[in-house]
Amino acid sequence: MNSRNVTVIGLQWGDEGKGKIVDAIARHCRYVVRFCGGANAGHTVRVGDERFAFHLIPCGILHDGVHNVIGNGVAFDPAVACEEIEGLRQRDVTVGSDNLHISSAANVVMGWHKLEDRLSESLLGKGKIGTTARGIGPCYADKATRTTAIRVGDLLDADVLREKVTRIAAVKKAVFAAMYSHRERLNIEEIVEEYAAYGGNLAEMVSNTGAMLRRAVADGERICFEGGQGSLLDIDHGTFPFVTSSSVTACGVPSGAGVPPKAVGRIVGIVKAYTSRVGAGPFPAEQDNATGEWLRERGHEYGTTTGRPRRCGWLDAVALRYAADLSGVDELALTLLDVPGGLADLRIATAYRVDGQVVDQFDPAAGALARAECVYEDLPGWQGEIADARRFNDLPDEARHYVERVEALLGRPVGVISVGPDREQTFAHHSKLKDLI
Ligand code: IMP
Repeated sequence: MNSRNVTVIGLQWGDEGKGKIVDAIARHCRYVVRFCGGANAGHTVRVGDERFAFHLIPCGILHDGVHNVIGNGVAFDPAVACEEIEGLRQRDVTVGSDNLHISSAANVVMGWHKLEDRLSESLLGKGKIGTTARGIGPCYADKATRTTAIRVGDLLDADVLREKVTRIAAVKKAVFAAMYSHRERLNIEEIVEEYAAYGGNLAEMVSNTGAMLRRAVADGERICFEGGQGSLLDIDHGTFPFVTSSSVTACGVPSGAGVPPKAVGRIVGIVKAYTSRVGAGPFPAEQDNATGEWLRERGHEYGTTTGRPRRCGWLDAVALRYAADLSGVDELALTLLDVPGGLADLRIATAYRVDGQVVDQFDPAAGALARAECVYEDLPGWQGEIADARRFNDLPDEARHYVERVEALLGRPVGVISVGPDREQTFAHHSKLKDLI
């Protein structure tokens, strides 16, 4: 089966710099496919002096001849999609039925999902998840409920849309009143008009993307599956309940894109040279101190989607091994290696101490993790900037040693290294994808 494909996923809690790596790979692929998440994602790509921030549109949109696919597994917010498409067109990027394909089976994020997200979080108070408020959880909840879900295909038929909106709005009103003591007007005609207009704008791009991708697999076309969020936010395998609501590991590719499991191809796990997390939940290697603050400022660790400051800490080999094993990662891409430069020492968590016992397994059950203290290995830091490095041997000894420790601790090669936001600042190291980077 097709081994030319590449799956790119984050191995931490998101914001690992996936967009940049996908962007580098995308130009050599025929298809770039989103299979999970929705507008909660924020992928940033810099081209020259221009900065592009994508939430829903796959990163391959910047390359000629690439088909960009929003798969059935995505929580699709048509308002965000229309805005992003318009923004790209204003910057002279062509977007249309030749290069963007939206699954008719993707579930639609409605206005009431965003409201539900906010109401639910405010009701939870201190126990809240700290979501992006993009309506992601409520949209996937309705997908699982089935009878309260609207799919992209429904936006194209005004009668179907009106029937569904009328029926579901009545349910939502009752739920808002009963659960949150919140009265919401939900004007059926306004909602139908708004969402039918999105459907009209997007219609030419909506199709059976699963069939399209299975054909591409059969034809041996190269596909890049672009992960969103990070493995530790996975609905099944992440630090539940402080997770997102979709399958964001490589295990989510087949169902979220509609391709056979063997089509995932080579799996690249993106690892930021330190760790960040936004929102609530356990984070054993967190540095809620001057070091964390320093990493946040130097790494510009503020959310692309929400602008929230990210929690920062040391690299965590226990969590990373778990995430890499879960997806069967073939090679790593180590990003933002320039950021920790200047620290006297760096630390990597190699085990946890939980209730007096040393463990080297990551147990995502939030209770135990919240009590975990890290056992660290200390490594010498490097001084001076490394942003000009273009190959491994350009890096100072200490930075090379750090990369080698990551490889040894995770039992996988670091295939790609990135030392800054520009395209030229990404280079292949031990990658089997040398022709792509
Ligand atoms: P939701 O996906 O908006 O429901 O948020 C659930 C959790 O996932 C929160 O902690 C968010 O901060 C986090 N999250 C969701 N998407 C991303 C992302 O793309 N990067 C980092 N964190 C994310």
